[in-house]
Amino acid sequence: MADVRLFSSKPYDHAGFDGANADHDHALTYLETRLGPDTVDLAAGAPAVCVFVNDVVSEPVLEALAAGGTRIVALRCAGFNNVDLDAAERLGITVVRVPAYSPNAVAEHTLALILSLNRRIHRAHNRVRDGNFALDGLVGFDLAGKTAGVVGTGKIGMIVARLLWHLRCRVLAVDVQQDQHLVDLGVEYVELDQLMAESDIISLNCPLTPDTHHMIDAESIATMRDGVMIVNTGRGALIDTEAVIQGLKSGRIGSLALDVYEEEGALFFEDRSHEIIDDDVFARLLTFHNVLITAHQAFLTREALDAIATTTLGNISTVLAGEACANVVTPG
Ligand code: NAI
Repeated sequence: MADVRLFSSKPYDHAGFDGANADHDHALTYLETRLGPDTVDLAAGAPAVCVFVNDVVSEPVLEALAAGGTRIVALRCAGFNNVDLDAAERLGITVVRVPAYSPNAVAEHTLALILSLNRRIHRAHNRVRDGNFALDGLVGFDLAGKTAGVVGTGKIGMIVARLLWHLRCRVLAVDVQQDQHLVDLGVEYVELDQLMAESDIISLNCPLTPDTHHMIDAESIATMRDGVMIVNTGRGALIDTEAVIQGLKSGRIGSLALDVYEEEGALFFEDRSHEIIDDDVFARLLTFHNVLITAHQAFLTREALDAIATTTLGNISTVLAGEACANVVTPG
Protein backbone atom coordinates (compact mmCIF):
# COMPACT_ATOMS: atom_id res chain seq x y z
CA MET A 1 0.00 0.00 0.00
CA ALA A 2 1.36 3.43 -0.93
CA ASP A 3 0.40 7.05 -0.52
CA VAL A 4 -0.64 8.26 -3.99
CA ARG A 5 -1.51 11.93 -4.65
CA LEU A 6 -3.61 12.48 -7.76
CA PHE A 7 -3.18 16.00 -9.12
CA SER A 8 -5.73 17.67 -11.43
CA SER A 9 -8.28 15.04 -10.46
CA LYS A 10 -11.97 15.62 -11.05
CA PRO A 11 -15.06 13.95 -9.61
CA TYR A 12 -15.40 11.88 -12.79
CA ASP A 13 -12.00 10.28 -12.03
CA HIS A 14 -13.03 8.95 -8.62
CA ALA A 15 -15.27 6.04 -9.60
CA GLY A 16 -12.64 4.42 -11.83
CA PHE A 17 -9.79 4.86 -9.35
CA ASP A 18 -11.79 3.82 -6.29
CA GLY A 19 -12.99 0.74 -8.16
CA ALA A 20 -9.55 -0.24 -9.47
CA ASN A 21 -7.96 0.39 -6.06
CA ALA A 22 -9.81 -2.59 -4.59
CA ASP A 23 -6.98 -4.68 -6.08
CA HIS A 24 -4.20 -2.46 -4.65
CA ASP A 25 -5.37 -0.80 -1.45
CA HIS A 26 -3.27 2.34 -1.98
CA ALA A 27 -4.08 5.48 0.00
CA LEU A 28 -5.46 7.74 -2.73
CA THR A 29 -5.63 11.50 -2.18
CA TYR A 30 -7.61 13.36 -4.84
CA LEU A 31 -6.31 16.90 -5.40
CA GLU A 32 -8.08 19.22 -7.85
CA THR A 33 -4.93 21.37 -7.89
CA ARG A 34 -2.70 21.22 -10.95
CA LEU A 35 0.89 20.11 -10.30
CA GLY A 36 3.44 22.86 -10.89
CA PRO A 37 6.22 24.75 -9.11
CA ASP A 38 3.75 26.46 -6.76
CA THR A 39 1.85 23.32 -5.79
CA VAL A 40 4.52 20.64 -5.70
CA ASP A 41 4.68 20.85 -1.89
CA LEU A 42 1.32 19.06 -1.84
CA ALA A 43 3.18 15.92 -2.95
CA ALA A 44 5.61 15.95 -0.02
CA GLY A 45 6.09 12.52 1.48
CA ALA A 46 4.14 10.64 -1.20
CA PRO A 47 6.16 7.94 -3.03
CA ALA A 48 3.86 8.25 -6.05
CA VAL A 49 2.13 11.17 -7.73
CA CYS A 50 -0.39 10.78 -10.49
CA VAL A 51 -0.71 13.54 -13.10
CA PHE A 52 -2.66 14.41 -16.21
CA VAL A 53 -1.98 16.17 -19.52
CA ASN A 54 -1.61 19.75 -18.31
CA ASP A 55 0.27 19.19 -15.08
CA VAL A 56 3.71 20.74 -15.26
CA VAL A 57 6.38 18.11 -14.64
CA SER A 58 9.42 20.27 -15.38
CA GLU A 59 12.93 19.93 -13.99
CA PRO A 60 12.32 22.21 -10.95
CA VAL A 61 9.09 20.35 -10.17
CA LEU A 62 10.85 16.99 -10.44
CA GLU A 63 13.66 18.24 -8.18
CA ALA A 64 11.09 19.24 -5.56
CA LEU A 65 9.30 15.91 -5.95
CA ALA A 66 12.55 13.99 -5.49
CA ALA A 67 13.42 16.08 -2.42
CA GLY A 68 9.99 15.24 -0.97
CA GLY A 69 10.51 11.50 -1.43
CA THR A 70 8.54 10.90 -4.63
CA ARG A 71 9.87 8.04 -6.73
CA ILE A 72 7.13 7.59 -9.30
CA VAL A 73 5.32 9.99 -11.60
CA ALA A 74 2.35 8.11 -13.01
CA LEU A 75 0.78 9.79 -16.02
CA ARG A 76 -2.88 8.86 -16.38
CA CYS A 77 -2.70 9.61 -20.10
CA ALA A 78 -0.79 8.44 -23.17
CA GLY A 79 1.13 11.61 -24.09
CA PHE A 80 4.16 12.57 -21.99
CA ASN A 81 5.29 15.83 -23.64
CA ASN A 82 4.69 17.67 -20.32
CA VAL A 83 7.40 15.68 -18.48
CA ASP A 84 11.14 16.46 -18.51
CA LEU A 85 12.22 12.84 -18.94
CA ASP A 86 15.96 13.61 -18.78
CA ALA A 87 15.54 15.32 -15.42
CA ALA A 88 13.38 12.45 -14.12
CA GLU A 89 16.03 9.93 -15.11
CA ARG A 90 18.79 11.98 -13.50
CA LEU A 91 16.77 12.24 -10.28
CA GLY A 92 15.90 8.54 -10.19
CA ILE A 93 12.17 9.15 -10.63
CA THR A 94 10.37 6.50 -12.68
CA VAL A 95 7.81 7.86 -15.16
CA VAL A 96 4.99 5.56 -16.21
CA ARG A 97 2.04 6.19 -18.50
CA VAL A 98 -1.08 4.58 -19.92
CA PRO A 99 -0.13 3.84 -23.53
CA ALA A 100 -3.64 2.80 -24.52
CA TYR A 101 -6.88 3.07 -22.63
CA SER A 102 -9.57 3.41 -25.21
CA PRO A 103 -8.31 4.34 -28.63
CA ASN A 104 -11.94 3.88 -29.69
CA ALA A 105 -13.01 6.72 -27.41
CA VAL A 106 -10.65 9.21 -29.09
CA ALA A 107 -11.29 7.89 -32.60
CA GLU A 108 -15.06 8.01 -32.13
CA HIS A 109 -14.83 11.59 -30.81
CA THR A 110 -12.74 12.50 -33.85
CA LEU A 111 -15.48 11.14 -36.09
CA ALA A 112 -18.13 12.96 -34.02
CA LEU A 113 -16.27 16.23 -34.61
CA ILE A 114 -15.96 15.59 -38.35
CA LEU A 115 -19.66 14.73 -38.74
CA SER A 116 -20.89 17.55 -36.49
CA LEU A 117 -18.70 20.18 -38.08
CA ASN A 118 -19.50 19.13 -41.63
CA ARG A 119 -23.26 19.09 -41.06
CA ARG A 120 -23.11 22.16 -38.77
CA ILE A 121 -24.87 20.28 -35.97
CA HIS A 122 -23.54 22.78 -33.40
CA ARG A 123 -25.26 25.65 -35.23
CA ALA A 124 -28.41 23.69 -36.07
CA HIS A 125 -28.90 22.70 -32.43
CA ASN A 126 -28.76 26.32 -31.26
CA ARG A 127 -31.01 27.51 -34.06
CA VAL A 128 -33.75 24.96 -33.47
CA ARG A 129 -33.76 25.67 -29.72
CA ASP A 130 -34.17 29.33 -30.61
CA GLY A 131 -37.11 28.66 -32.90
CA ASN A 132 -35.04 29.41 -36.00
CA PHE A 133 -35.69 26.67 -38.53
CA ALA A 134 -33.87 28.28 -41.48
CA LEU A 135 -31.25 26.14 -43.22
CA ASP A 136 -29.06 28.90 -44.67
CA GLY A 137 -25.42 28.40 -43.79
CA LEU A 138 -25.87 24.74 -42.86
CA VAL A 139 -24.82 23.19 -46.18
CA GLY A 140 -22.38 20.33 -45.68
CA PHE A 141 -20.81 17.84 -48.08
CA ASP A 142 -21.10 14.08 -48.61
CA LEU A 143 -18.16 12.35 -46.97
CA ALA A 144 -18.47 9.48 -49.43
CA GLY A 145 -16.04 10.03 -52.26
CA LYS A 146 -14.00 12.70 -50.44
CA THR A 147 -10.33 12.29 -49.61
CA ALA A 148 -9.48 12.05 -45.91
CA GLY A 149 -5.88 12.26 -44.69
CA VAL A 150 -4.90 10.73 -41.36
CA VAL A 151 -1.54 11.81 -39.94
CA GLY A 152 -0.38 9.06 -37.59
CA THR A 153 -1.98 5.62 -37.85
CA GLY A 154 -1.13 4.29 -34.40
CA LYS A 155 -3.77 2.97 -32.04
CA ILE A 156 -6.13 5.94 -32.51
CA GLY A 157 -5.37 7.00 -36.08
CA MET A 158 -5.77 3.43 -37.30
CA ILE A 159 -9.37 3.41 -36.06
CA VAL A 160 -10.03 6.90 -37.47
CA ALA A 161 -8.72 5.74 -40.86
CA ARG A 162 -10.91 2.63 -40.72
CA LEU A 163 -14.03 4.60 -39.76
CA LEU A 164 -13.46 7.08 -42.60
CA TRP A 165 -12.86 4.21 -45.00
CA HIS A 166 -16.17 2.66 -44.01
CA LEU A 167 -17.82 6.02 -44.71
CA ARG A 168 -16.49 5.46 -48.24
CA CYS A 169 -13.79 8.11 -48.19
CA ARG A 170 -10.56 7.66 -50.08
CA VAL A 171 -8.14 7.50 -47.16
CA LEU A 172 -4.54 8.74 -47.28
CA ALA A 173 -2.21 8.14 -44.35
CA VAL A 174 1.20 9.24 -43.17
CA ASP A 175 3.23 7.22 -40.69
CA VAL A 176 6.69 5.75 -40.51
CA GLN A 177 5.09 2.42 -39.69
CA GLN A 178 2.48 1.17 -42.11
CA ASP A 179 -0.48 -0.72 -40.69
CA GLN A 180 -0.94 -3.81 -42.87
CA HIS A 181 -4.64 -4.07 -42.06
CA LEU A 182 -5.16 -0.53 -43.40
CA VAL A 183 -3.10 -1.28 -46.50
CA ASP A 184 -5.20 -4.39 -47.14
CA LEU A 185 -8.33 -2.28 -46.76
CA GLY A 186 -7.10 0.13 -49.43
CA VAL A 187 -5.70 2.98 -47.34
CA GLU A 188 -2.85 4.65 -49.25
CA TYR A 189 0.31 5.53 -47.34
CA VAL A 190 1.80 8.67 -48.87
CA GLU A 191 4.25 11.46 -48.04
CA LEU A 192 2.99 14.28 -45.81
CA ASP A 193 3.14 16.79 -48.69
CA GLN A 194 0.79 14.68 -50.79
CA LEU A 195 -1.61 14.15 -47.90
CA MET A 196 -1.74 17.90 -47.22
CA ALA A 197 -2.27 18.72 -50.90
CA GLU A 198 -4.93 16.11 -51.72
CA SER A 199 -7.07 15.82 -48.59
CA ASP A 200 -10.52 17.36 -48.12
CA ILE A 201 -10.30 16.40 -44.44
CA ILE A 202 -7.06 16.23 -42.45
CA SER A 203 -7.09 14.46 -39.08
CA LEU A 204 -4.08 14.81 -36.78
CA ASN A 205 -3.51 11.67 -34.71
CA CYS A 206 0.24 11.70 -34.14
CA PRO A 207 2.12 12.61 -30.96
CA LEU A 208 3.63 16.04 -30.33
CA THR A 209 7.39 15.85 -30.92
CA PRO A 210 9.97 18.36 -32.18
CA ASP A 211 9.27 16.90 -35.66
CA THR A 212 5.51 17.34 -35.51
CA HIS A 213 5.43 20.73 -33.71
CA HIS A 214 3.41 23.17 -35.87
CA MET A 215 3.12 20.65 -38.71
CA ILE A 216 0.10 22.72 -39.73
CA ASP A 217 1.57 26.17 -40.38
CA ALA A 218 1.29 28.93 -42.99
CA GLU A 219 3.52 26.99 -45.38
CA SER A 220 1.55 23.74 -45.23
CA ILE A 221 -1.81 25.56 -45.27
CA ALA A 222 -0.75 27.21 -48.54
CA THR A 223 -0.49 23.77 -50.15
CA MET A 224 -3.93 22.54 -49.00
CA ARG A 225 -7.15 22.28 -50.95
CA ASP A 226 -9.47 25.27 -50.73
CA GLY A 227 -12.08 24.63 -48.07
CA VAL A 228 -10.12 21.87 -46.33
CA MET A 229 -11.42 20.62 -42.98
CA ILE A 230 -8.75 20.24 -40.29
CA VAL A 231 -9.40 18.13 -37.19
CA ASN A 232 -6.98 17.94 -34.29
CA THR A 233 -7.51 15.49 -31.45
CA GLY A 234 -3.76 14.88 -31.05
CA ARG A 235 -1.99 17.71 -29.25
CA GLY A 236 -2.56 21.45 -29.57
CA ALA A 237 0.91 22.44 -30.70
CA LEU A 238 0.64 20.27 -33.83
CA ILE A 239 -1.07 23.40 -35.16
CA ASP A 240 0.24 26.96 -35.40
CA THR A 241 -3.01 28.55 -34.26
CA GLU A 242 -2.25 32.04 -35.61
CA ALA A 243 -1.60 30.56 -39.06
CA VAL A 244 -4.85 28.61 -38.91
CA ILE A 245 -6.75 31.78 -38.01
CA GLN A 246 -5.32 33.45 -41.12
CA GLY A 247 -6.35 30.37 -43.13
CA LEU A 248 -9.90 30.58 -41.77
CA LYS A 249 -10.07 34.31 -42.52
CA SER A 250 -8.93 33.81 -46.10
CA GLY A 251 -11.31 30.87 -46.60
CA ARG A 252 -8.48 28.50 -47.49
CA ILE A 253 -9.47 26.49 -44.42
CA GLY A 254 -13.17 25.66 -44.72
CA SER A 255 -13.65 24.41 -41.18
CA LEU A 256 -11.69 23.47 -38.10
CA ALA A 257 -12.40 21.11 -35.21
CA LEU A 258 -10.18 21.05 -32.15
CA ASP A 259 -10.18 18.93 -29.03
CA VAL A 260 -6.75 20.27 -28.08
CA TYR A 261 -5.22 23.74 -28.19
CA GLU A 262 -1.60 24.74 -27.80
CA GLU A 263 -2.27 27.05 -24.85
CA GLU A 264 -4.99 24.85 -23.35
CA GLY A 265 -3.09 24.55 -20.06
CA ALA A 266 -4.36 27.99 -19.05
CA LEU A 267 -7.98 27.23 -19.99
CA PHE A 268 -9.16 23.66 -20.18
CA PHE A 269 -10.64 21.36 -17.53
CA GLU A 270 -12.02 24.24 -15.43
CA ASP A 271 -15.31 26.17 -15.38
CA ARG A 272 -14.26 29.64 -16.54
CA SER A 273 -17.74 30.81 -17.52
CA HIS A 274 -17.56 33.58 -14.89
CA GLU A 275 -14.13 34.78 -16.06
CA ILE A 276 -12.93 36.97 -18.92
CA ILE A 277 -10.92 34.91 -21.41
CA ASP A 278 -7.69 36.82 -21.85
CA ASP A 279 -6.27 34.55 -24.55
CA ASP A 280 -7.04 36.65 -27.65
CA VAL A 281 -6.04 33.88 -30.05
CA PHE A 282 -8.47 31.42 -28.48
CA ALA A 283 -11.14 34.12 -28.27
CA ARG A 284 -10.73 34.76 -32.02
CA LEU A 285 -11.18 31.06 -32.73
CA LEU A 286 -14.48 31.14 -30.85
CA THR A 287 -15.83 33.82 -33.21
CA PHE A 288 -15.77 31.57 -36.30
CA HIS A 289 -19.05 29.75 -36.97
CA ASN A 290 -17.05 27.08 -38.83
CA VAL A 291 -14.86 26.22 -35.84
CA LEU A 292 -15.96 23.53 -33.39
CA ILE A 293 -14.01 23.14 -30.16
CA THR A 294 -14.27 20.62 -27.37
CA ALA A 295 -12.04 20.99 -24.32
CA HIS A 296 -9.85 17.87 -24.43
CA GLN A 297 -12.73 15.47 -23.89
CA ALA A 298 -12.01 12.94 -26.64
CA PHE A 299 -10.85 10.39 -24.06
CA LEU A 300 -13.85 10.84 -21.80
CA THR A 301 -15.82 7.61 -21.84
CA ARG A 302 -16.62 5.33 -18.90
CA GLU A 303 -14.58 2.56 -20.49
CA ALA A 304 -11.54 4.80 -20.92
CA LEU A 305 -11.71 6.16 -17.35
CA ASP A 306 -11.87 2.62 -15.93
CA ALA A 307 -8.97 1.47 -18.11
CA ILE A 308 -6.88 4.52 -17.17
CA ALA A 309 -7.37 3.84 -13.46
CA THR A 310 -6.64 0.11 -13.76
CA THR A 311 -3.42 0.63 -15.72
CA THR A 312 -2.22 3.57 -13.61
CA LEU A 313 -2.59 1.78 -10.28
CA GLY A 314 -1.10 -1.37 -11.82
CA ASN A 315 1.90 0.67 -13.01
CA ILE A 316 2.42 2.15 -9.54
CA SER A 317 2.17 -1.22 -7.76
CA THR A 318 4.51 -2.88 -10.26
CA VAL A 319 7.20 -0.19 -9.95
CA LEU A 320 6.92 -0.05 -6.15
CA ALA A 321 7.31 -3.83 -6.03
CA GLY A 322 10.58 -3.43 -7.95
CA GLU A 323 9.24 -5.41 -10.89
CA ALA A 324 9.70 -4.59 -14.57
CA CYS A 325 6.91 -2.35 -15.86
CA ALA A 326 6.17 -2.26 -19.59
CA ASN A 327 4.72 1.25 -19.32
CA VAL A 328 7.85 3.04 -18.15
CA VAL A 329 8.74 6.08 -20.28
CA THR A 330 12.42 6.83 -20.80
CA PRO A 331 14.19 9.68 -22.63
CA GLY A 332 14.90 9.33 -26.35
P1 NAI B 1 0.37 5.73 -30.92
O1 NAI B 1 1.73 5.85 -30.34
O2 NAI B 1 -0.32 4.41 -30.91
O3 NAI B 1 0.36 6.25 -32.43
C1 NAI B 1 1.00 7.39 -32.84
C2 NAI B 1 1.43 7.16 -34.27
O4 NAI B 1 1.97 8.39 -34.77
C3 NAI B 1 2.53 6.10 -34.40
O5 NAI B 1 2.14 5.12 -35.35
C4 NAI B 1 3.75 6.88 -34.86
O6 NAI B 1 4.60 6.15 -35.73
C5 NAI B 1 3.08 8.05 -35.59
N1 NAI B 1 3.94 9.20 -35.77
C6 NAI B 1 4.94 9.65 -34.97
N2 NAI B 1 5.52 10.72 -35.53
C7 NAI B 1 4.87 10.95 -36.70
C8 NAI B 1 5.01 11.92 -37.73
N3 NAI B 1 5.97 12.85 -37.67
N4 NAI B 1 4.18 11.85 -38.78
C9 NAI B 1 3.22 10.90 -38.85
N5 NAI B 1 3.06 9.94 -37.91
C10 NAI B 1 3.87 9.98 -36.85
O7 NAI B 1 -0.51 6.83 -30.15
P2 NAI B 1 -2.09 6.91 -30.06
O8 NAI B 1 -2.56 6.18 -28.87
O9 NAI B 1 -2.68 6.61 -31.38
O10 NAI B 1 -2.26 8.47 -29.73
C11 NAI B 1 -1.87 9.47 -30.66
C12 NAI B 1 -1.87 10.81 -29.95
O11 NAI B 1 -3.20 11.17 -29.62
C13 NAI B 1 -1.12 10.82 -28.61
O12 NAI B 1 0.26 11.04 -28.77
C14 NAI B 1 -1.77 11.95 -27.86
O13 NAI B 1 -1.03 13.14 -28.11
C15 NAI B 1 -3.16 12.06 -28.50
N6 NAI B 1 -4.23 11.70 -27.59
C16 NAI B 1 -5.25 12.59 -27.40
C17 NAI B 1 -6.28 12.30 -26.54
C18 NAI B 1 -7.44 13.25 -26.33
O14 NAI B 1 -8.23 13.07 -25.39
N7 NAI B 1 -7.61 14.25 -27.19
C19 NAI B 1 -6.29 11.07 -25.75
C20 NAI B 1 -5.21 10.16 -26.08
C21 NAI B 1 -4.21 10.50 -26.94
